[in-house]
Amino acid sequence: MKPTVYVTRLIPAEGLDLLRTVCAVEVNPDNRPLERAELLAKVRDKDGVIGLLTDRIDAEFFDAAPKLKGYANYAVGFDNIDVAEATRRGIPVSNTPGVLTEATAELAWALLFAVARRVAEADAVMRSGQWTGWGPLQFLGADVCGKTLGIVGAGRIGTAMALMSRGFRMPVVYSSSSGRRNDVLENELSARLVPFEELLAQSDFISLHAPLTPQSRHLFNAGTFARMKNTAILINTGRGPLIKEDDLVVALREGEIGGAGLDVYEFEPRMAQGLAELPNTVLLPHVGSATHSTRSNMAAMAARNLLAMLAGERPETCLNPEVLGG
Ligand code: DGY
Repeated sequence: MKPTVYVTRLIPAEGLDLLRTVCAVEVNPDNRPLERAELLAKVRDKDGVIGLLTDRIDAEFFDAAPKLKGYANYAVGFDNIDVAEATRRGIPVSNTPGVLTEATAELAWALLFAVARRVAEADAVMRSGQWTGWGPLQFLGADVCGKTLGIVGAGRIGTAMALMSRGFRMPVVYSSSSGRRNDVLENELSARLVPFEELLAQSDFISLHAPLTPQSRHLFNAGTFARMKNTAILINTGRGPLIKEDDLVVALREGEIGGAGLDVYEFEPRMAQGLAELPNTVLLPHVGSATHSTRSNMAAMAARNLLAMLAGERPETCLNPEVLGG
């Protein structure tokens, strides 16, 4: 009998084809996240599941899937998984680090430039047919070269984002909740590890790459915005709840900070009221990893991980290797 696998949303063929070589695979046929009850019903008889960051993988999920031998997240972020609960039950879980690093860092730069140079506003004027010709005072924005870049969370993606600043001769500062030095950034960019308060005060651009944890939730709130430069631009390609979104709307509206480029939101797929009306924002629908090759690589990695777990082996990127005696 082939192991049975459920995939909670259609993912690229690279992953599904690999799974189908060994497993009986069922995929959510609809282009939408499953309702909770649907998800719980679908996993009841499955040996393995590949799920998304929108699927909550917790005690209730594990109760609903009594045969489960492994869960593979189709995402690097894993704040949707109760890893401690999985570990208590001896169920291995995995994520997809590494394969989306460059794509996400590139998107952070796309947002940074789009906000600094008011790309979306200017594009909208062209499309509306309202442009009347070149003007000395039109769409004045912010310089990027030589400005200070602050990285909050200098892990894989934060490091890649910072390294991409080289061409723009930007002093780089970074903060880290662990206080750990990032040798790559220090050696290659002469970046400085600074206390969070100093990063807020010095940075012209702040890019968020910290994982979402109870400690980092709402790291950016009214108090934080008050300590940033009023020209500073905030970029978030990490997780929405790092920012208290209602406070961000006020800070942007009242000119406490200069602008924001967001790919993620506190209550996805919704945005805080007022955000969409603010011209000093660029707003994207969580597309950090959305390149053809990245999404295919994520699918292949999630599939390899799940196949390993189903075989009782340690997956490439296990979040709780101790359950496999690792
Ligand atoms: C992730 O992987 O965590 C992203 O948010 C989606 O690719």
